[in-house]
Amino acid sequence: MKRLGVNIDHVATLRQARKTRYPNPIAAAALVEKAGGNQITIHLREDRRHIQDVDVRELRKTIRTRLNLEMAARPEIVAIACDVKPDTITLVPERRQELTTEGGLDVTKEDGNLSTAIKKLKQSGIEISLFIEPDLKQIEAAVHLGADQVEFHTGRYCELTDKGDKKEVQKELARLKESAQFAKEKGLQVAAGHGLNYDNIEDLLRNIPEIEEYNIGHSIVSRAIFVGLEKAVQEMREIIQGVGK
Ligand code: PXP
Repeated sequence: MKRLGVNIDHVATLRQARKTRYPNPIAAAALVEKAGGNQITIHLREDRRHIQDVDVRELRKTIRTRLNLEMAARPEIVAIACDVKPDTITLVPERRQELTTEGGLDVTKEDGNLSTAIKKLKQSGIEISLFIEPDLKQIEAAVHLGADQVEFHTGRYCELTDKGDKKEVQKELARLKESAQFAKEKGLQVAAGHGLNYDNIEDLLRNIPEIEEYNIGHSIVSRAIFVGLEKAVQEMREIIQGVGK
């Protein structure tokens, strides 16, 4: 069964907009799990624009599925992660000015920082996923770094789909497929995420059975405004189950 990780950062974004106590990410995570989400994904950013340290600690105590913490390989955040022990850490690039994570981590240009972080996190018993572009060189470097999983950045695929550029979409799908097959051959688990929604996920499910996990946030939380979080998660689960058997 394919896993659906629901990224609940934007529940915290709404709370931080007014510095209120609601909406509460802990309550959101419980609803996601009730609706069939297989994993709660959160990003503890250096600027703490949405998820706060206390959220990470509380979620660790309350969630019943899996906790996937996205973070940059910075010593301050690594120390928090080693203490909290999420099930998985997804290492992502982080730039202060960006709206969201733009592009994957370039793991071929390792300066020692990344491998030190990975070593520490693995020693704490945490699985490591690297958020990279679907690129064979990146996958080889991820294997070399001892990753358990790669998550492919689907931003380019989603942008091309929005533009309706069918030829380029097919090219990007082929790149994702080749990368997913290569990563599987190398013994890595394969995940995908960024910009996925109720429409554009279908071609990935149909064409790339190697993708075992999807991490989706913005589209699900947006839909939740109209239909409620449980229904928004159920609808995505149904698509994943229906199309991507
Ligand atoms: N996966 C990773 C590694 C991410 O950084 C993000 C964005 O925080 C997502 C998945 C979810 O992306 P979106 O909110 O566009 O669905």
